[in-house]
Amino acid sequence: MAEVLDGKKISTEIRQELAREVKEFTTHTSTEPKLAAILVGDDPASQVYVRNKERACAKVGILSQLHRLPSSTKESDLIGLINELNQDDTVHGILVQLPLPSHISQQNILDQINPYKDVDAFHPENVGLLAQGRPRFVPCTPHGCLQLLIRNGIKVSGMHVVVLGRSEIVGKPLAAMLAQRKLLYGDEFTNATVTICHSRTTNLPELTRQADILIAAIGHPKFVTAEMVKKGVVAIDVGINRIDDTLVGDLEFDSVEKKASYITPVPGGVGPMTITMLLKNTLVAAKLQRA
Ligand code: GUN
Repeated sequence: MAEVLDGKKISTEIRQELAREVKEFTTHTSTEPKLAAILVGDDPASQVYVRNKERACAKVGILSQLHRLPSSTKESDLIGLINELNQDDTVHGILVQLPLPSHISQQNILDQINPYKDVDAFHPENVGLLAQGRPRFVPCTPHGCLQLLIRNGIKVSGMHVVVLGRSEIVGKPLAAMLAQRKLLYGDEFTNATVTICHSRTTNLPELTRQADILIAAIGHPKFVTAEMVKKGVVAIDVGINRIDDTLVGDLEFDSVEKKASYITPVPGGVGPMTITMLLKNTLVAAKLQRA
């Protein structure tokens, strides 16, 4: 049976550290870090995420403001709001909740965010800096996965990591980070041999069975079964799929757990870590703007 990696516990640990750092920063600079979130439309999952983000900010001493816009909002009006927030010196981090309504170009919007306030690290300048191994902001979900490994003492260097999924938010940046020679944490948590698999990959189970660490980020409920992993695998589940009001990951937890050495649960695994790393990035942004 695998050891279950407790994302809530590690999140609490990191959030306590952050609360202390925020307090210290505020005392020294008389500046309270502030995150502005924009929610367009009424996607139920996004409502939940945004509410969780606001609560999490309050708990570590970060100010937050939420801008709710109707789903009929024009792209130009959304860009107008982003420009206002870009220029507002009291706002350090800007987050546009995804997905956006289909008439708005996600790329156009993300390109407008001031790269020094881009706490999601979605702006091309920040994607480029990360790809070169000198990140300004580390994207939240990949960073959450990495922290789960680091803080449980799981070695990454030299391991074969198979990443399922090539999204801009998780798969692509995570694969780039793991393969780097150096990132932020010395060479223990990089220098992996990385394979990226996706919907056109042939012989997928043959590849996933080679993984020392398997990271599933495809958004298909219970896609990875015990037959697809080797004994002793470290299985990280990034999936959050809603089925009849229950959350299910991309791993078939009950069967994979029997073969894995470590496994993350859904909920309570990577999810809480993502918000925690967003809090961290908001503090990083506040520090950058005071520098
Ligand atoms: N929607 C799902 N995940 C994310 C995320 O990491 N950031 C934003 N802004 N929206 C999301």
